[in-house]
Formats: sequence, C-alpha cells, structure tokens
Amino acid sequence: MSPPRPDKSETVQRAVRSARRRLEALQALGVTSLPAPKEKRERSSKAEILQPIQRQAEACRACRLHETRKSVVFGEGSLEAPVVFVGEGPGREEDLQGRPFVGQAGGLLTKMIFAMGFKREAVYIANVVKCRPPMNRPPEPDEVAACSSYLKAQLETIRPRVICALGRTAASTLLKTSAPMAHLRGKAFAWEGIPVVVTFHPAYLLRNPSAKTLVWQDLQQVLALLQS
Ligand code: URA
Repeated sequence: MSPPRPDKSETVQRAVRSARRRLEALQALGVTSLPAPKEKRERSSKAEILQPIQRQAEACRACRLHETRKSVVFGEGSLEAPVVFVGEGPGREEDLQGRPFVGQAGGLLTKMIFAMGFKREAVYIANVVKCRPPMNRPPEPDEVAACSSYLKAQLETIRPRVICALGRTAASTLLKTSAPMAHLRGKAFAWEGIPVVVTFHPAYLLRNPSAKTLVWQDLQQVLALLQS
C-alpha cells in the first residue's frame, strides 16, 4: 500500500517552510536583496545611475550660480525617452519649482511635444546648466563647463534615439561650435553617435511667432529620425 498523499494545504505549508529556511540561510550569509528579473533590473538601472548624480548636482557648488539658486533643476521625464530636449538653463519659474520648462516657454515646449504625438512624461527634458543664471542671462562658458558632466551623464544614461537642441546655447554646447543658428538648423549632427536636431528655443518663438513654421519643420526632422 502506498503512503497517504499529503493534502494541498500541507504541501503549501511545506513550501512556505522551505522558502523561509532558504531566506534565513541567505540572511545568515549576509544577503539582503535578491536580483530582480532581468527586464526590471535593466529599467531600474538607469535610475540607479542617475539618482546619485542628481544628488551630487543638488549639492553642487562648482560655479557661482549656486549662490543665487533656489533649486537645482536637474531634469525630468522618462529614462526610456526616444527624444531628449535640451534647453539653456532654468528661468525664474523653473528655479522656484525645481522643474525644467514650466514657465511660459515651457508651456510652448509642452505644446510642441504634444504636437509631435508625445506626452510630456514620455520624453526627457534637461538644460545645459542646472541652476538659474541671474536675470535669465545666458550661462557663461565657465558655468557651462562646470555643469557639463551632468548633461553628459543624462544623455549617456538615457541614450535617446534623437537629441533636440533648443536654441544656441544647447546647440553650441552639444556640438562644440560657435556657428549661428542659421547654419545649424536643418543639418545632420551627432553627439556621441546620437543624432542631434537643432531648433529655435521656445522663448525665441514667443518673441518671434512666425518662426513656428521653421520649428515645425525641425520637429518633423526629429520624427523622421525616430522612424528611420
Ligand atoms: N528656458 C530654458 O532654457 N530652460 C528652462 O528650463 C526654462 C526656460
């Protein structure tokens, strides 16, 4: 006669006891976390790379802009973004809220992103400098240099399919050129192998609404690169 088979609840209890014993053994060995499934691990690793860099930026005193800032505006959006938009530096509203492009120019950028068919949270938005230059002046070359490792880390970590440079400061920083906007728009550039599309800064568009047609052409170029 074969021995009676354990019922279901006994089997479950045995499995729980065995899992508990395994966990206790792992704890005794000093193991405090188990590896996440591969896909999850890959997704969280970008955040794991950028979080300490953001904390470093938040404590940064590498240039004079730290003296007058209210917040460090590191950047925001999806770390899986197909496009990263790069602006110049935080303005008054961004400095107050600690978020990029939330003032008037930000409203226009958000509309541009929608017009491309994206939600704002699906792309990533960053600036060349993370602290507000006083009176919204363009950042000085030494301020750009002091901040450059943060943008580099953001772009290297996210590695979007396309980078969209908003205005002269972003374009000249990414492409290391002093060429005027007229020579940069509509051309093919790359930053560390990632295509860069240069367009006007939304603040310029607010002052020159007729340039919207040109900006739309540039955004179409971004979309075409995403489809290629
Ligand atoms: N202008 C920028 O370049 N960046 C911002 O975040 C806001 C305005």
